[in-house]
Amino acid sequence: MRHPILLLAFLSAMLLFGACSSPEKRSTTGTNDAIEQRVDSLLALMTLEEKIGQLTLYSSDFDVTGPTMRSGYLDDVKSGKVGAIFNAFTAAFTTKIQKLAIENTRLKIPLLFGYDVIHGFKTAFPVPLGEAASWDTALCARSARVAAVEAAAAGLHWTFAPMVDIARDPRWGRITEGAGEDPHLGSAIAAARVRGFQGINEGKTLAANDVVLACVKHFAAYGAAEAGRDYNTTDMSDRVLREIYLPPYKAAIDAGALSVMSAFNELNGVPATGNQYLLTDILRNEWKFKGFVVTDYTSINEMIPHNVVADSAEAGELAINAGVDMDMQGGIFQFQLAKLVKQGRVSESTINEAVRRVLRLKFMLGLFEAPYGRSDTTRERERTMTPEHLEVSLDAARKSIVLLKNDSLKGNAILPLASTIKTIAIVGPLADSKRDMLGAWAGACDGNKCISLLEGMKKRFPQANILYAKGCNINDDSTNAFNAALQAASKADVVIAALGETSEMSGEAASRSNIGIPGVQEDLLKKLATTGKPVVLVLMNGRPLAIPWAAQNIPAIVEAWFLGTRAGDAIAEVLAGDYNPSGKLPVTFPRSVGQIPLYYNHKNTGRPINPKDKYTSKYLDIQNTPQFAFGHGLSYTTFAYSALRLEKSSIKTSEQVRVSIDVQNTGTREGVETAQFYIRDLVASVPRPVQELRGFQKVVLKAGETKTLTFTLTPEDLMFYNRQMKRVVEPGDIKIMVGGSSDNTLTTTLKVTQ
Ligand code: BGC
Repeated sequence: MRHPILLLAFLSAMLLFGACSSPEKRSTTGTNDAIEQRVDSLLALMTLEEKIGQLTLYSSDFDVTGPTMRSGYLDDVKSGKVGAIFNAFTAAFTTKIQKLAIENTRLKIPLLFGYDVIHGFKTAFPVPLGEAASWDTALCARSARVAAVEAAAAGLHWTFAPMVDIARDPRWGRITEGAGEDPHLGSAIAAARVRGFQGINEGKTLAANDVVLACVKHFAAYGAAEAGRDYNTTDMSDRVLREIYLPPYKAAIDAGALSVMSAFNELNGVPATGNQYLLTDILRNEWKFKGFVVTDYTSINEMIPHNVVADSAEAGELAINAGVDMDMQGGIFQFQLAKLVKQGRVSESTINEAVRRVLRLKFMLGLFEAPYGRSDTTRERERTMTPEHLEVSLDAARKSIVLLKNDSLKGNAILPLASTIKTIAIVGPLADSKRDMLGAWAGACDGNKCISLLEGMKKRFPQANILYAKGCNINDDSTNAFNAALQAASKADVVIAALGETSEMSGEAASRSNIGIPGVQEDLLKKLATTGKPVVLVLMNGRPLAIPWAAQNIPAIVEAWFLGTRAGDAIAEVLAGDYNPSGKLPVTFPRSVGQIPLYYNHKNTGRPINPKDKYTSKYLDIQNTPQFAFGHGLSYTTFAYSALRLEKSSIKTSEQVRVSIDVQNTGTREGVETAQFYIRDLVASVPRPVQELRGFQKVVLKAGETKTLTFTLTPEDLMFYNRQMKRVVEPGDIKIMVGGSSDNTLTTTLKVTQ
């Protein structure tokens, strides 16, 4: 703020409203005493109806000019019946709605504007699952930061992200929105995204006008929907819940997230939105969460078809008493809470507490000082899709690409493509798709602004003769266009086949029972292979696909997810070798849907697989192993791991130990490797997984260079829930594994004594 008058005005506003936060004023709630006083004073002025308004979240459906979701919508904003709005954005539009609230309501409480800014607002980043393949938490924080800057400039205060649901079932379309199957990686990325949205790395407060409040979702265990069918039941032991599913939510909250979204699913017989164990016992009492809980879209109402309540009144009663603070779109709080208070089924102090949580955040966001603080349209323009943001998008896209396979033909690896290459056939229904590069939940991103693979390749290979043929559609059975594709292939030195899913085939309500490449695309691929030309398969998809034929028969496979605005540029750079691929899978790729759920951190069973013994844990018709393991990802160089060593071979249960390993770049060019550190507790009071990720490090190595990496194994890393569900470290032997993939590690043993 360079302008002296503005600065003066700002300082006096801060003093007047007590918004200056000094460390000594911080209370044990993690908020500020001055804010607490302001919340209490405001609360004391509010009628019950006004309080309930603060607990009501409406979708604007981009229209406040007349009745939309329900008649009287506009009047509801004016009369304070709504505390927050989602799906409204742009600086001008949010200002218009904010004015309705400020100029018409008795207490002039500002609205909070939320939106699903999941992987970019205008500048699109890779889908979260793809970005997780970077194993780069700094990158995840940076892309969330850019998304926040753009969203905040468009009038938003709040994003419904990060989605941190662990998912072990690729049939579930929403696997694309999270960081994959592993609690350790998932926690690191969840925390990074929260830090990015809220500007925590940069020391920002929520009141800074370029941060957005994070909302950790979907609490809890939504990613374990049975059979991968969206919204389906989840049922799991407390042990699995606490060891596998809960850690990323906890990590996000510990990182500073101050809102949480309750999930659609039921968990062990209780819908998450009416689940006191989740929303109060764990979230508030165990984790000391101080923010507010918003429901998912109409999830209070959905407790009726869940068959745990008979009507809306019971649904509202169950939700608020379980720990929900804000009702998204359901209207249940709006229409039922006052009655429930009068009937004594909900106490006014419960309502007060929920309102307090919401108001506290509004104060922390500086909304009372500056309700129109995000209404500057020039700023909005200047902060949207800037060259710098597009550069971060390109960087994220490059780092998210996973080289799944790269065989050699006549002694030369297929990739990278030789710079002298003359004719390239680019085929497939995704080769020139711009819109699909966005993936699911692409916010306000414009697909037309994306770079398609074809565009990226033309730019990168200006001298080459590029032949394009679509070949087929993504998801129908027409083979009419096969011939044109085969002709292009027959004239080319290499064939790049861009195949996979549409953007809409993953995300919400996008479960699939067959996770192969859809339609006739694989038939096209088979035909392309018969031309004898080297074929590179570039996969674009929001979930792990089962591609046993391609994995066996296609010599080079690049996993390109949905990479966002700069997708085509990033893939072209990787194919050309300008960028040496470095991504590693954050999720297992099965061979067949029949193996699901298939995840690396499984248990051993009493009859671990023995191919020679029928009566062991395996299938008659398929191997147990995945097609591509968790952590797998190749490079254009090679890395060798050696000299795995422990600082000491034995530690006490309360001690930590350093684990070191040498990693050498044994190829001829610089590359980035992600070293992964796993443990296995060999004998414990409860069966432990055969592998558990406990650390990872990214390292840049020049050709021939060796670096020593050191991981620290702490008592916390060795802890697990024993039979009494107490977190303990037990004495015994721990297998230590370090390597470039979960299925390729060096091992040693550590002794833990009492
Ligand atoms: C989704 C949430 C999302 C909400 C608001 C719901 O259908 O499950 O993830 O935040 O809609 O758009």
